[in-house]
Amino acid sequence: MTFASSFLVEPFGGDAVAITRCILIDADAFPYPSVEFGLRSSSSRLMLARETPGGPIVGFVAGRVRRGCLHIEGLAVERAHRRRGIGRALVCAAVARSRAEGLIALTLHVGTCNAAAIALYRAEGFGIDRCLRGFYSARAFGSDRDAYQMSLPLRLGR
Ligand SMILES: CC(C)(COP(=O)(O)OP(=O)(O)OC[C@H]1O[C@@H](n2cnc3c(N)ncnc32)[C@H](O)[C@@H]1OP(=O)(O)O)[C@@H](O)C(=O)NCCC(=O)NCCS
Repeated sequence: MTFASSFLVEPFGGDAVAITRCILIDADAFPYPSVEFGLRSSSSRLMLARETPGGPIVGFVAGRVRRGCLHIEGLAVERAHRRRGIGRALVCAAVARSRAEGLIALTLHVGTCNAAAIALYRAEGFGIDRCLRGFYSARAFGSDRDAYQMSLPLRLGR
């Protein structure tokens, strides 16, 4: 469990209420469900941010392990709690856990118009690998359909 200023980040512990909160935060943050929350799969990873131990969930990062990499499928912080370092703490926790598991990299897709998330990932060492034109559906994203594929290789000692 990691404490950072007035909140903490912890791995998902099987709490159904926590999943419901994550689904609500996800639904408010994105025009489509970004994560399937397929928690019975051994490849799923989910970390939660809370304000206090056992308190309400204010953010999450979720992904799946594929071919030795963690692919981040969803990252979101409740609107009222943004710009307090919670998003960064979640990304750092996902990186630390992936390193501890011996994974070789983290990967993700992010909308090219999502300046906040791109700034966060870049600040944490992710680089842009390529731009994927028309990656997102027009129905959900309108004209903002392009995505960057970003990644963070995990090198020994970093
Ligand atoms: C992206 C998101 C998770 C960031 O969470 P957060 O808790 O507000 O982020 P933090 O407070 O940890 O900020 C970390 C860094 O991200 C960047 N950042 C965050 N919000 C930003 C904004 N509105 N504008 C520009 N940069 C921003 C900054 O570099 C910031 O560092 P700084 O505070 O030292 O300037 C949050 O805005 C969110 O939930 N957005 C909707 C969902 C989403 O877009 N998820 C990413 C999908 S790939």
